Amino acid sequence: MTSGVTQPTDIREVAVIGLGLMGSGIAELVARSGRRVDAIEIDRSALDQGMARLHASLDRAVSRGKLTDTARDEALARIRPTDDVPAGVADADLVIEAIPERMELKRSLFAQLDEACRADAILATNTSSLSITEIAGGTRYPGRVAGLHFFNPAPAMKLVEVVSTVLTAPEITETLTLLSRDLGKTPVGATDRAGFIVNALLVPYLNHAVHLLETGQATREDIDKAVAAGLGLPMGPLTLLDLIGLDTCLAVLETLHDEFGGTRYRHAPLLRKLCDARLFGRKSGRGFYDYRRPSTAADHELAPVPDEVAVIRDSSGLLDELADSISAADIRVVPEPSDQTGLVIVAAVPRHRVLDAALAAGHPADVVGAHIIETLAGKLRLAELVLPDVTAAGTAAKAAALAARIKLKAVISRDRPGFLLEALAYAQFNDAVRMVQDGYASSADIDTAMMLGCGYPCGPLQMLDEAGAANVVAVLDAMHAATGDPAFTPVPLLAEYATAGNLFRAEAGG
Ligand code: CAA
Repeated sequence: MTSGVTQPTDIREVAVIGLGLMGSGIAELVARSGRRVDAIEIDRSALDQGMARLHASLDRAVSRGKLTDTARDEALARIRPTDDVPAGVADADLVIEAIPERMELKRSLFAQLDEACRADAILATNTSSLSITEIAGGTRYPGRVAGLHFFNPAPAMKLVEVVSTVLTAPEITETLTLLSRDLGKTPVGATDRAGFIVNALLVPYLNHAVHLLETGQATREDIDKAVAAGLGLPMGPLTLLDLIGLDTCLAVLETLHDEFGGTRYRHAPLLRKLCDARLFGRKSGRGFYDYRRPSTAADHELAPVPDEVAVIRDSSGLLDELADSISAADIRVVPEPSDQTGLVIVAAVPRHRVLDAALAAGHPADVVGAHIIETLAGKLRLAELVLPDVTAAGTAAKAAALAARIKLKAVISRDRPGFLLEALAYAQFNDAVRMVQDGYASSADIDTAMMLGCGYPCGPLQMLDEAGAANVVAVLDAMHAATGDPAFTPVPLLAEYATAGNLFRAEAGG
């Protein structure tokens, strides 16, 4: 049995068990760090696929100039693919398990490791949805078992969650923390709670996006575009679900639901249906998008742009720039609708329905609300074009044609509080505050985890500070009132900060 902190330099031989999406990425990463890797997969065809993925990823790094041919060949030479678990782990200093997320499989594997590994080997699991405590509890030396949770794609994402259970020996956590740094990652410590830090924030948000799609709030492309462009994330939620794997996300949600209950973690029926249909995302060729054939999204014809557009400006000046852009495109802009008006634009605010402004403007059938989302520098990033349900059938198409003519990046949303961006983002910010409130993670750790694990340009709590806690509370209250869903109730700490005007990331200057 291990004692004392093992230095990363003493971890020279690593066995990675399970060569799926995560296991192959982890094996690549470890081999590139100069360590020998036993890449173990009991299913021969999965072993071949995993090795092919690993080769392709190394080739890609070479073609991008990140790795020399020699370094790739040396990394490959350090990897021994095998389907023999006992032989593969026999000399390992560290075992990283990344097999399918089924407790009975993990427990039986760890029982096998008890017999086959050296007594001083460290056993780590990359599980994202199962209790590490339960896995460890069934082993002979639970003190040497911990979580080492990587993010997809493992070679690229900088975060590792080092998860300790109540049974994990502190020196094991310390060794894995040091090793993570040695692998070029930034470790964040977490305890064995469902979803750890990142998945507890990410997966409910992804599920929320599925719910919006399923309830016709917007198209899959517009849901993705709203968040990616609006928050500056590397990819939208449905694309990210396809990357992670819908089955993986469903498993995480089920664990969160088992542990915390409530409506926030209840899976969207569509997510289950796609899993039942084995449409798991990229890894199976199709999920929310189809990866087997090129997209035809750009092929559809746009509706004619109206000759006259009424822009109902208000004292806030929110629509001034938009009105100028429309005029500059030689479209007549009028302050009130006339008989010639083809489209009426009113200012849309995520905490209010557009419907009321639409009725006040007259012509509700031709009304579209415009919510302009600006960067901090005041540069226009995205417009949410919001359609009350009373809008006529062709209005969405006219609004899309207008946006294309004036080169405005736009998405179309139904008229529900929060629209797309704020509905998805603010519900996640609320979850992040709940985590701080529960004393599970600090604001700084949460922000670091989401930046390094998911490529956020800044963390959710810093974004919350920028949006203003009072504004976030107002939108969440409107979402709660409109849906009756208690998941959108602002958590007490958020409500308190909104009242007091406090910042979550005061130290970040935000
Ligand atoms: N394998 C290895 N490296 C990869 C890769 C892959 N499949 N895909 C991209 N990369 C690397 C590239 O080599 C590149 O590295 P350099 O900067 O050193 O050149 C870098 O990532 C950026 O790649 P690209 O420019 O080709 O592509 P991109 O800019 O579109 O980025 C992305 C791709 C890194 C996937 C980016 O879109 C991203 O960060 N997306 C968010 C991913 C995310 O949120 N992951 C966490 C999911 S949650 C999870 O995994 C945990 C769980 O338990 C469910």
